[in-house]
Amino acid sequence: MPSTKKALAWALSFAPSAFSAALPFKRAISSVVSGSPVGFASGATGGGDATPVYPTTIADLKKYLTSKNPQVIVIDGQYDFAGSEGTQKEQACNIYSCTPENGGQGMLNTLNGCTTATYNVEIDTAAYQGIQVQSHKTLVGKNGATLNGKGLRLVSVSNIIIQNLKITNLNPKYVWGGDAISLSNTSDIWIDHVETSLTGRQHYSFGQEPNHYVTISNSFVNGETKYSASCDSHTYWGEEMVGKDDSITWYRNHVYMTSGRSPAMSGGTLLHAVNNVFEDNTGHLIEGGEAGARGIFEGNVFKNVKTTLDSGFKGQLFGATASNAGQCQTALGRKCEANEFSSAPELNRADTGFFKNFNGFFIVGAASAQSIQDEVPKRAGATL
Ligand SMILES: *[C@@H]1O[C@H](CO)[C@@H](O)[C@H](O)[C@H]1NC(C)=O
Repeated sequence: MPSTKKALAWALSFAPSAFSAALPFKRAISSVVSGSPVGFASGATGGGDATPVYPTTIADLKKYLTSKNPQVIVIDGQYDFAGSEGTQKEQACNIYSCTPENGGQGMLNTLNGCTTATYNVEIDTAAYQGIQVQSHKTLVGKNGATLNGKGLRLVSVSNIIIQNLKITNLNPKYVWGGDAISLSNTSDIWIDHVETSLTGRQHYSFGQEPNHYVTISNSFVNGETKYSASCDSHTYWGEEMVGKDDSITWYRNHVYMTSGRSPAMSGGTLLHAVNNVFEDNTGHLIEGGEAGARGIFEGNVFKNVKTTLDSGFKGQLFGATASNAGQCQTALGRKCEANEFSSAPELNRADTGFFKNFNGFFIVGAASAQSIQDEVPKRAGATL
């Protein structure tokens, strides 16, 4: 049942603005969506039961996503943004031990981060910044729906559902070339069955302004790349969770071929990571240099991971084991499922001081790690 806090947030996501006051409340989730949100974003309804629209051009898709109206948007097949906004000249540099010509990533100097000699490059403008999605949207893909060369940017918006699509090809040659999905100052966001790949920067980037009630589920973080900051075909730029007060359910995702930030947890992030498969990591998975980050990891499978927890991590973590699983009762109202490790260091942290912070959130159920280890990699991503 929603707590007062959750119920209030849910009601607020429909708070009357000059515009929405004129609309009837639409709380049902469209039948074009498969299933319903779970975990922290359980209250998300996106575009509600608005009549679906079926944009066939990138211009129409952009128009619907950026309109002020609640919208249910169904997309089908490939939406090719590459080149659609032209190119732009930038400066870049090589700061890693490999160059883009031999498996590495260059870095754009857009934030003046270059400490080595710069050179001129041309990047794709569409990929550099995502579509500014507005509130109360449902975006559902069918038949291999793909945003080629464009990500999604969720800033100061609420109540959005994104399901069953691929986002790829965001200037992967260059750090800062483009994020797949970025969120800042959002609430009630459900991202489900999304595959992200070939990003310049983050697969998921949570900005510093708080993101409340976010669930990312059944998604495939596909880190395989020709342009790797760690020079080994693995992306460093997985999930950056650094908001001041983020609350994120990370559920049944397949995090594959990464070498860092998987996730980076700092700021004031509260994370519930359940039944994910973290596979083939050559650097480290969990990192974060700030004390405010908090996370429960349960029922996950860690497979072929070099370092599960970076030694510089400063936050609070609870990694569920068979013997400590009962302690989760006070956080989740049930016991945890133990994590499993195969060729991966165990997550030996059992901080519980933050357990009361889960009070008032919807908590997704957990299955045993054993039962999800084959299923999650098979089903995660745009597989509906
Ligand atoms: C956060 O988003 C709300 C709209 O949802 C806006 O009114 C507010 O100014 C935003 N805050 C910041 C810091 O951007």
